[in-house]
Amino acid sequence: ASTYENILTEKKEGGVGFIQLNRPKALNALCDGLYKDLHSALQSFDADPEIGAIVITGSEKAFAAGADIKEMKDKEYPQTYLIDMLSWWENVGKTRKPIIGAVNGYALGGGCELAMMCDILIAGKNAKFGQPEINLGTIPGMGGSQRLTRAIGKSRAMEMILTGEMMDAEEAASRGLVSRVHPTESLVDEALKMARKIAAQSRPITIMAKDVVNQAFETGLQDGLKFERRVFHSTFATNDRREGMAAFAEKRKANWTQN
Ligand code: CAA
Repeated sequence: ASTYENILTEKKEGGVGFIQLNRPKALNALCDGLYKDLHSALQSFDADPEIGAIVITGSEKAFAAGADIKEMKDKEYPQTYLIDMLSWWENVGKTRKPIIGAVNGYALGGGCELAMMCDILIAGKNAKFGQPEINLGTIPGMGGSQRLTRAIGKSRAMEMILTGEMMDAEEAASRGLVSRVHPTESLVDEALKMARKIAAQSRPITIMAKDVVNQAFETGLQDGLKFERRVFHSTFATNDRREGMAAFAEKRKANWTQN
Protein backbone atom coordinates (compact mmCIF):
# COMPACT_ATOMS: atom_id res chain seq x y z
CA ALA A 1 0.00 0.00 0.00
CA SER A 2 1.39 3.38 -0.96
CA THR A 3 0.61 7.04 -0.52
CA TYR A 4 1.54 8.24 -3.99
CA GLU A 5 -0.85 10.16 -6.19
CA ASN A 6 0.12 8.77 -9.60
CA ILE A 7 1.36 5.26 -8.87
CA LEU A 8 0.52 2.32 -6.63
CA THR A 9 3.34 0.48 -4.90
CA GLU A 10 3.45 -2.69 -2.88
CA LYS A 11 6.06 -4.95 -1.35
CA LYS A 12 5.19 -8.37 -2.72
CA GLU A 13 6.25 -11.72 -1.30
CA GLY A 14 9.63 -13.05 -2.31
CA GLY A 15 11.42 -9.69 -2.17
CA VAL A 16 9.69 -7.98 -5.07
CA GLY A 17 8.92 -4.26 -5.24
CA PHE A 18 5.79 -3.70 -7.34
CA ILE A 19 4.99 -0.40 -9.05
CA GLN A 20 1.83 0.23 -11.04
CA LEU A 21 1.50 3.48 -12.97
CA ASN A 22 -1.91 4.78 -12.01
CA ARG A 23 -3.32 7.75 -13.95
CA PRO A 24 -6.07 5.80 -15.70
CA LYS A 25 -7.88 8.90 -16.98
CA ALA A 26 -4.77 10.02 -18.87
CA LEU A 27 -3.65 6.52 -19.93
CA ASN A 28 -0.72 6.91 -17.54
CA ALA A 29 0.71 9.92 -19.38
CA LEU A 30 4.02 10.71 -17.73
CA CYS A 31 3.41 14.04 -16.01
CA ASP A 32 6.03 15.57 -13.68
CA GLY A 33 4.15 14.31 -10.63
CA LEU A 34 4.26 10.75 -11.94
CA TYR A 35 8.00 11.04 -12.49
CA LYS A 36 8.51 12.25 -8.93
CA ASP A 37 6.43 9.39 -7.52
CA LEU A 38 8.18 6.79 -9.64
CA HIS A 39 11.64 8.10 -8.79
CA SER A 40 10.85 8.13 -5.10
CA ALA A 41 9.42 4.59 -5.20
CA LEU A 42 12.44 3.29 -7.11
CA GLN A 43 14.80 4.91 -4.61
CA SER A 44 13.00 3.43 -1.64
CA PHE A 45 12.91 -0.08 -3.16
CA ASP A 46 16.59 0.29 -4.03
CA ALA A 47 17.36 1.18 -0.43
CA ASP A 48 15.19 -1.59 1.04
CA PRO A 49 17.30 -4.65 1.92
CA GLU A 50 14.22 -6.90 1.68
CA ILE A 51 13.74 -6.06 -2.02
CA GLY A 52 15.76 -7.84 -4.69
CA ALA A 53 13.93 -6.96 -7.91
CA ILE A 54 11.34 -4.46 -9.09
CA VAL A 55 8.36 -4.76 -11.45
CA ILE A 56 6.90 -1.73 -13.25
CA THR A 57 3.58 -2.10 -15.02
CA GLY A 58 0.63 0.01 -16.10
CA SER A 59 -2.97 -1.00 -16.72
CA GLU A 60 -4.32 -3.52 -19.23
CA LYS A 61 -5.17 -0.63 -21.54
CA ALA A 62 -1.95 1.37 -21.27
CA PHE A 63 1.53 0.97 -19.88
CA ALA A 64 1.90 4.69 -20.60
CA ALA A 65 0.66 6.75 -23.56
CA GLY A 66 3.66 9.07 -23.53
CA ALA A 67 4.91 12.25 -21.98
CA ASP A 68 2.01 14.41 -20.84
CA ILE A 69 1.16 16.40 -23.95
CA LYS A 70 -1.14 18.76 -22.07
CA GLU A 71 1.68 19.63 -19.67
CA MET A 72 4.13 20.17 -22.54
CA LYS A 73 2.06 21.99 -25.10
CA ASP A 74 2.69 25.58 -23.94
CA LYS A 75 6.38 25.19 -23.14
CA GLU A 76 8.88 27.48 -24.89
CA TYR A 77 12.35 26.53 -26.06
CA PRO A 78 14.42 28.55 -23.53
CA GLN A 79 12.56 26.90 -20.66
CA THR A 80 13.06 23.40 -22.03
CA TYR A 81 16.79 24.04 -22.44
CA LEU A 82 17.19 25.82 -19.13
CA ILE A 83 15.73 22.97 -17.11
CA ASP A 84 17.06 20.29 -19.50
CA MET A 85 13.48 19.05 -19.79
CA LEU A 86 13.02 15.26 -19.43
CA SER A 87 16.69 14.67 -18.52
CA TRP A 88 15.60 13.52 -15.05
CA TRP A 89 14.05 10.38 -16.53
CA GLU A 90 17.57 9.03 -16.97
CA ASN A 91 17.54 8.49 -13.20
CA VAL A 92 15.30 5.47 -13.79
CA GLY A 93 18.28 3.78 -15.45
CA LYS A 94 20.42 4.49 -12.40
CA THR A 95 18.34 2.13 -10.26
CA ARG A 96 20.70 -0.55 -8.93
CA LYS A 97 18.24 -3.43 -8.61
CA PRO A 98 16.91 -5.13 -11.74
CA ILE A 99 13.66 -3.74 -13.12
CA ILE A 100 11.23 -5.85 -15.12
CA GLY A 101 8.89 -3.80 -17.30
CA ALA A 102 5.56 -5.56 -17.90
CA VAL A 103 3.80 -3.85 -20.81
CA ASN A 104 0.12 -4.26 -21.57
CA GLY A 105 -1.64 -1.93 -23.99
CA TYR A 106 -0.07 1.29 -25.23
CA ALA A 107 3.61 2.02 -24.66
CA LEU A 108 3.90 5.15 -26.77
CA GLY A 109 6.43 7.96 -26.91
CA GLY A 110 7.81 8.43 -23.41
CA GLY A 111 5.91 5.26 -22.42
CA CYS A 112 7.91 3.20 -24.90
CA GLU A 113 11.04 5.01 -23.76
CA LEU A 114 10.33 4.30 -20.09
CA ALA A 115 9.72 0.64 -20.97
CA MET A 116 13.11 0.53 -22.71
CA MET A 117 14.80 1.85 -19.55
CA CYS A 118 13.77 -1.37 -17.80
CA ASP A 119 16.32 -4.20 -17.64
CA ILE A 120 13.96 -6.91 -18.89
CA LEU A 121 10.85 -6.17 -20.91
CA ILE A 122 7.95 -8.58 -21.24
CA ALA A 123 4.69 -7.86 -23.02
CA GLY A 124 1.06 -8.84 -22.92
CA LYS A 125 -0.48 -9.97 -26.22
CA ASN A 126 -2.27 -6.61 -26.56
CA ALA A 127 0.88 -4.48 -26.13
CA LYS A 128 1.52 -1.76 -28.69
CA PHE A 129 4.85 0.02 -28.89
CA GLY A 130 5.36 3.25 -30.76
CA GLN A 131 7.21 6.54 -31.04
CA PRO A 132 4.41 8.74 -32.44
CA GLU A 133 6.07 12.08 -31.59
CA ILE A 134 6.35 12.90 -35.30
CA ASN A 135 2.55 13.28 -35.37
CA LEU A 136 2.90 16.05 -32.76
CA GLY A 137 5.63 17.83 -34.66
CA THR A 138 8.35 16.68 -32.31
CA ILE A 139 10.75 13.78 -31.83
CA PRO A 140 11.53 11.30 -29.03
CA GLY A 141 13.10 13.03 -26.03
CA MET A 142 13.54 10.28 -23.44
CA GLY A 143 15.97 8.05 -25.32
CA GLY A 144 13.76 6.51 -28.02
CA SER A 145 16.02 7.30 -30.95
CA GLN A 146 18.97 5.68 -29.18
CA ARG A 147 17.46 2.74 -27.28
CA LEU A 148 14.98 1.68 -29.98
CA THR A 149 17.71 1.76 -32.63
CA ARG A 150 20.00 -0.37 -30.47
CA ALA A 151 17.12 -2.76 -29.71
CA ILE A 152 15.62 -3.38 -33.15
CA GLY A 153 18.13 -1.95 -35.64
CA LYS A 154 18.25 1.22 -37.69
CA SER A 155 15.79 0.49 -40.46
CA ARG A 156 12.83 -0.58 -38.30
CA ALA A 157 13.55 2.08 -35.66
CA MET A 158 13.76 4.74 -38.35
CA GLU A 159 10.48 3.50 -39.82
CA MET A 160 8.70 3.66 -36.46
CA ILE A 161 10.07 7.10 -35.59
CA LEU A 162 9.39 8.60 -39.04
CA THR A 163 5.92 7.11 -39.58
CA GLY A 164 4.74 7.06 -35.95
CA GLU A 165 3.15 3.66 -36.53
CA MET A 166 2.85 1.13 -33.72
CA MET A 167 4.43 -2.31 -33.38
CA ASP A 168 2.53 -5.20 -31.82
CA ALA A 169 3.75 -7.59 -29.14
CA GLU A 170 4.57 -10.54 -31.40
CA GLU A 171 6.75 -8.40 -33.62
CA ALA A 172 8.37 -6.74 -30.61
CA ALA A 173 9.33 -10.24 -29.38
CA SER A 174 10.56 -11.40 -32.77
CA ARG A 175 12.82 -8.34 -32.99
CA GLY A 176 14.15 -8.66 -29.45
CA LEU A 177 12.54 -5.52 -28.05
CA VAL A 178 10.79 -7.70 -25.46
CA SER A 179 12.01 -11.06 -24.20
CA ARG A 180 8.60 -12.78 -24.14
CA VAL A 181 4.87 -12.39 -24.67
CA HIS A 182 2.17 -13.64 -22.29
CA PRO A 183 -1.62 -13.45 -22.30
CA THR A 184 -2.66 -9.98 -21.15
CA GLU A 185 -4.37 -11.25 -17.97
CA SER A 186 -1.39 -13.27 -16.74
CA LEU A 187 1.37 -10.79 -17.64
CA VAL A 188 1.74 -9.25 -14.19
CA ASP A 189 1.85 -12.67 -12.49
CA GLU A 190 4.52 -13.79 -14.92
CA ALA A 191 6.52 -10.62 -14.22
CA LEU A 192 6.24 -11.22 -10.47
CA LYS A 193 7.32 -14.83 -10.91
CA MET A 194 10.42 -13.76 -12.85
CA ALA A 195 11.16 -11.03 -10.32
CA ARG A 196 10.92 -13.53 -7.41
CA LYS A 197 13.41 -15.76 -9.16
CA ILE A 198 15.86 -12.87 -9.50
CA ALA A 199 15.22 -11.66 -5.95
CA ALA A 200 16.12 -15.13 -4.62
CA GLN A 201 19.68 -14.75 -5.91
CA SER A 202 22.57 -13.00 -4.19
CA ARG A 203 21.87 -9.24 -4.28
CA PRO A 204 25.45 -8.01 -4.84
CA ILE A 205 26.08 -10.58 -7.56
CA THR A 206 22.75 -9.72 -9.24
CA ILE A 207 23.73 -6.07 -9.39
CA MET A 208 27.17 -6.92 -10.78
CA ALA A 209 25.48 -9.00 -13.49
CA LYS A 210 23.11 -6.15 -14.37
CA ASP A 211 26.03 -3.68 -14.50
CA VAL A 212 28.09 -5.76 -16.92
CA VAL A 213 25.18 -6.31 -19.33
CA ASN A 214 24.42 -2.57 -19.29
CA GLN A 215 28.04 -1.84 -20.07
CA ALA A 216 27.45 -3.40 -23.50
CA PHE A 217 25.49 -0.25 -24.36
CA GLU A 218 28.21 2.14 -23.25
CA THR A 219 31.52 0.90 -24.65
CA GLY A 220 33.27 -0.89 -27.51
CA LEU A 221 33.72 -4.67 -27.36
CA GLN A 222 37.28 -4.82 -25.99
CA ASP A 223 36.58 -2.32 -23.21
CA GLY A 224 33.30 -4.09 -22.44
CA LEU A 225 34.97 -7.49 -22.25
CA LYS A 226 37.62 -6.13 -19.94
CA PHE A 227 35.00 -4.51 -17.70
CA GLU A 228 33.07 -7.79 -17.56
CA ARG A 229 36.20 -9.74 -16.64
CA ARG A 230 37.15 -7.31 -13.88
CA VAL A 231 33.67 -7.47 -12.36
CA PHE A 232 33.73 -11.26 -12.76
CA HIS A 233 37.02 -11.27 -10.81
CA SER A 234 35.40 -9.12 -8.15
CA THR A 235 32.72 -11.76 -7.53
CA PHE A 236 35.67 -13.72 -6.07
CA ALA A 237 35.82 -11.10 -3.33
CA THR A 238 32.35 -12.14 -2.14
CA ASN A 239 31.23 -14.88 0.24
CA ASP A 240 28.24 -15.56 -1.99
CA ARG A 241 30.53 -16.62 -4.87
CA ARG A 242 32.38 -19.00 -2.54
CA GLU A 243 29.04 -20.32 -1.18
CA GLY A 244 27.48 -20.70 -4.64
CA MET A 245 30.32 -22.82 -5.96
CA ALA A 246 30.69 -24.83 -2.74
CA ALA A 247 26.94 -25.57 -2.79
CA PHE A 248 27.21 -26.84 -6.35
CA ALA A 249 30.14 -29.12 -5.48
CA GLU A 250 28.29 -30.39 -2.38
CA LYS A 251 25.04 -30.91 -4.33
CA ARG A 252 22.98 -28.61 -2.09
CA LYS A 253 21.09 -25.33 -2.44
CA ALA A 254 23.14 -22.16 -1.94
CA ASN A 255 22.41 -20.09 1.13
CA TRP A 256 23.03 -16.44 0.17
CA THR A 257 24.22 -14.08 2.89
CA GLN A 258 24.35 -11.01 0.63
CA ASN A 259 28.04 -10.67 1.33
N1 CAA B 1 -0.66 13.13 -22.69
C1 CAA B 1 -1.72 13.66 -22.09
N2 CAA B 1 -2.94 13.08 -22.11
C2 CAA B 1 -3.07 11.92 -22.79
C3 CAA B 1 -2.01 11.32 -23.45
C4 CAA B 1 -0.75 11.97 -23.39
N3 CAA B 1 0.37 11.46 -23.95
N4 CAA B 1 -2.45 10.19 -24.05
C5 CAA B 1 -3.75 10.08 -23.75
N5 CAA B 1 -4.15 11.13 -22.99
C6 CAA B 1 -5.48 11.40 -22.47
C7 CAA B 1 -6.42 11.85 -23.56
O1 CAA B 1 -6.23 13.23 -23.82
C8 CAA B 1 -7.76 11.55 -22.96
O2 CAA B 1 -8.06 12.53 -22.02
P1 CAA B 1 -9.56 13.20 -21.99
O3 CAA B 1 -10.43 12.05 -21.59
O4 CAA B 1 -9.43 14.25 -20.96
O5 CAA B 1 -9.82 13.68 -23.36
C9 CAA B 1 -7.48 10.26 -22.19
O6 CAA B 1 -6.07 10.21 -21.99
C10 CAA B 1 -7.90 9.01 -22.94
O7 CAA B 1 -7.27 9.05 -24.22
P2 CAA B 1 -8.09 8.86 -25.60
O8 CAA B 1 -9.48 9.33 -25.45
O9 CAA B 1 -7.26 9.48 -26.68
O10 CAA B 1 -8.06 7.26 -25.71
P3 CAA B 1 -8.15 6.38 -27.04
O11 CAA B 1 -8.33 4.99 -26.57
O12 CAA B 1 -9.12 6.97 -27.99
O13 CAA B 1 -6.70 6.53 -27.74
C11 CAA B 1 -4.26 6.58 -27.77
C12 CAA B 1 -5.54 6.01 -27.13
C13 CAA B 1 -4.15 6.11 -29.22
C14 CAA B 1 -3.10 6.11 -26.96
C15 CAA B 1 -4.35 8.14 -27.77
O14 CAA B 1 -4.67 8.56 -26.45
C16 CAA B 1 -3.07 8.83 -28.16
O15 CAA B 1 -2.74 8.90 -29.34
N6 CAA B 1 -2.33 9.41 -27.17
C17 CAA B 1 -1.13 10.17 -27.43
C18 CAA B 1 0.04 9.28 -27.77
C19 CAA B 1 1.27 10.11 -28.04
O16 CAA B 1 1.31 10.93 -28.95
N7 CAA B 1 2.34 9.90 -27.23
C20 CAA B 1 3.59 10.62 -27.39
C21 CAA B 1 3.61 11.77 -26.46
S1 CAA B 1 5.00 12.85 -26.76
C22 CAA B 1 6.29 12.14 -25.97
O17 CAA B 1 6.15 11.13 -25.32
C23 CAA B 1 7.62 12.87 -26.10
C24 CAA B 1 8.79 12.10 -25.60
O18 CAA B 1 9.50 11.42 -26.31
C25 CAA B 1 9.16 12.19 -24.20
